[in-house]
Amino acid sequence: MSAKIIDGGAIAKEMRQEIAAEVEQLRAEQGLTPGIATVLVGENPASQSYVRMKSRACEKAGILSFGHYLPEEATQEEVEGLIHDLSADPTVHGILVQLPLPSHLDEEAILGSVALEKDVDGFHPINIGRLAMKGREPLFIPCTPYGCMVLLEKAGAQIEGAEAVVLGRSNIVGLPVAMLLLHANATVTICHSRTKDLPAVCRKAGILVAAVGRPEMVKADWVKPGAYVIDVGSNKVDDPTAEKGYRWVGDVAFDEVKEVAGAITPSPGGVGPMTITMLLKNTVTAAKRTLAD
Ligand code: GUN
Repeated sequence: MSAKIIDGGAIAKEMRQEIAAEVEQLRAEQGLTPGIATVLVGENPASQSYVRMKSRACEKAGILSFGHYLPEEATQEEVEGLIHDLSADPTVHGILVQLPLPSHLDEEAILGSVALEKDVDGFHPINIGRLAMKGREPLFIPCTPYGCMVLLEKAGAQIEGAEAVVLGRSNIVGLPVAMLLLHANATVTICHSRTKDLPAVCRKAGILVAAVGRPEMVKADWVKPGAYVIDVGSNKVDDPTAEKGYRWVGDVAFDEVKEVAGAITPSPGGVGPMTITMLLKNTVTAAKRTLAD
């Protein structure tokens, strides 16, 4: 039987409409317009495109978006100085530093210079530390892992007590999504390049999250029948038959895995649209918290 397709595009659209309505209500009733500042250092084309998409989505939801662009050779002091100014600016409720940063910059120090209450990406070392600890709550949950959890919940997955396997241990997705699954009382295994017999480990999973960046690596015989499969991968592969000469695929061989899984996200159209949606949600949360002061 073919799996239920978890339509991230449709779920994201509905959530963005709710967020836009909330933004309008904040403006009309409280005179508050949420604002986000994006910081992009250098000219990585993929990062430029992500930042553009984030800014557009913010504007569509009624959130102010302030774009800051620094040259590739910007110094640590310049980047931290900008973040310091944004941290003190009351019109800015969220600060997003697009990753990766150029290699001469100290990423941890830069992420640590974001005001904790404006860390809408959830990458401040204190927020990540809280996410890693039992009984502690981060101020913000990193957007892609947060989107994965919302998709699992919307698809009706029983997370508590489930065997969850996360493929990949990146700071941006693999590690935080594993911690969120653990907080939700799943039994979590994190796999990486040194894991022995990856297919056998994956086959145990009732919930499988693939975040390795390898095109269509997860095959049908890696997946337990009925499993929930969340594909975070977004990989550009050559395809001479496609108009542009390439196409996008996930980390999961979708066509064959959908015949085994119980529910699966497509890629594109699954996790991707959720990442930006959760950024909008975190920004509205940050703005609303300023009202409570
Ligand atoms: N680079 C890749 N994914 C992300 C993300 O979610 N946030 C930021 N800031 N940079 C990224």
